[in-house]
Amino acid sequence: MTSILVLNGPNLNLLGTRQPEIYGSTTLAEIEAICDMAGAIHGASVTCLQSNHEGELVEAIHAARGVHDAIVMNAGAYTHTSIAIMDAIKSTGTPTIELHLSNIHAREPFRHKSYIAPVAVGQICGFGADGYRLAIEAALAYLDQMPS
Ligand code: DQA
Repeated sequence: MTSILVLNGPNLNLLGTRQPEIYGSTTLAEIEAICDMAGAIHGASVTCLQSNHEGELVEAIHAARGVHDAIVMNAGAYTHTSIAIMDAIKSTGTPTIELHLSNIHAREPFRHKSYIAPVAVGQICGFGADGYRLAIEAALAYLDQMPS
């Protein structure tokens, strides 16, 4: 069974109450349920993990190798700062879809830079909570067309 890891970074545990005008009112628990359902519809299993700590996210990416077929990652603010997360994705080679609830390119200039983008399969942003479903579908479609 295809397995997808959904990794959420710092402050995303606050979804629902955190700047709802930007991030919407869907909680992280609701997003994780959406992810489970999006996987189940396609017969894939989804594991969700959230951490506020850069090192824990790096370790989760390491641990995903050989266990999960793809990663959907919202690295939160680490997107714009973390060479460590970029290196972890590059070094372990698990196909990774970068995801953001907001359209980072339409926001402050410091959010336009992503360290994840150069090592990701692609980026989905600006679709709110529905982006997680889109990212899981994109990951599954990508895996489907990969030569076996
Ligand atoms: C975010 C965008 C980031 O710039 C921000 O730091 C976040 C959330 C998003 O999902 O839109 O924490 O990744």
